[in-house]
Amino acid sequence: MLDELRALQTEALEALEAIGDTEGLEPWRVRYLGRRGELTTLLRSVGGLRREERPLAGRAGNEVKATLERAYQEKATALEQAEREATLEAQRVDVSLPGRRPQIGSLHITTQILRQICDIFAQMGFQVYDAPDVETDEMNFGLLNMPPYHPARDLWDTFWVNDQASSRGSARGVLLRTHTSPGQIRVMRERCPEPIRVILPGKCYRYEHVTARSEHQFYQVEGLAVGRNITMADLKGTMLNFAQMFYGPDQEVRLRGSYFPFTEPSVEFDGRCILCHGEGCRVCRYSGWLELAGAGMVHPVVLENGGYDPAIYSGFAFGFGVERPAMLKYDIDDIRYFYANDMRFLRQF
Ligand code: DAH
Repeated sequence: MLDELRALQTEALEALEAIGDTEGLEPWRVRYLGRRGELTTLLRSVGGLRREERPLAGRAGNEVKATLERAYQEKATALEQAEREATLEAQRVDVSLPGRRPQIGSLHITTQILRQICDIFAQMGFQVYDAPDVETDEMNFGLLNMPPYHPARDLWDTFWVNDQASSRGSARGVLLRTHTSPGQIRVMRERCPEPIRVILPGKCYRYEHVTARSEHQFYQVEGLAVGRNITMADLKGTMLNFAQMFYGPDQEVRLRGSYFPFTEPSVEFDGRCILCHGEGCRVCRYSGWLELAGAGMVHPVVLENGGYDPAIYSGFAFGFGVERPAMLKYDIDDIRYFYANDMRFLRQF
């Protein structure tokens, strides 16, 4: 019995020694120390020994049991620690590695162009004024000299925000502004009777068929100057200066008679076609000129609606799109790219 116990202890300790990971521990414990393990089985047979042999065998058996249990605990602790260290080593962070560069966005082409435009006008002393995108019918049309059912309203196809059947064409109508011109009324009412020199950049919306040339949302930059003795010459000088700062010092502009309900007289500014320089091409429809902006002297009714006495004050106004000039400058042939959010397009600017 004592020999068997000694042999079992030697065998068990060797087997324990050979275990390489914590997964091997449990089978070993079951095999040697478990309820049906080899040691337990051996100890049970102590009862069958002769009386005088039992105490010795029992004590020896308990010693072997204690030895194996202690060895098991030590081995388990050693293996767990080794595994923890291995994991830490494997997951070690190399703090000397260079970091991953965060992706930095860039300004949308429209934003870039808008900033250029604002900078140019700022040099001429124009402030930037923000006006809301959601407007009343009264601001968008009525106070700009287009009372309900005025035929000029047909020039702008409108997105109505509230119930159109009852409010459309009445002062209660709420809409997405079809142009930035309603901002003129807001500035005048806020500044009256101070002189005004502002631009109003912003988005406009039209209920229109979307094509390569027209979107249902786009940017405009509105301009407004109000004061004493403001004349058409100021308007022309401002537009010429802007065109030359934006397109280049040789840029020519011309004035053409036109019609807008909120200006009198009204004009259209054309610039020499920047693609063919006046030779005539497909883009300028072989005229050598491209439309730049609508403009004119602020209509007396509009001045009055803004709080200014037209007998004392005069003013000029203009409005132009932002995407079209950008398309010309960068040779973009489809306005839909601006809102398609295709990174291949946007990354080029
Ligand atoms: N609001 C006009 C449009 O959207 C553009 C315009 C024309 C604005 C003449 C003006 C102006 O201020 O004087 O077509």
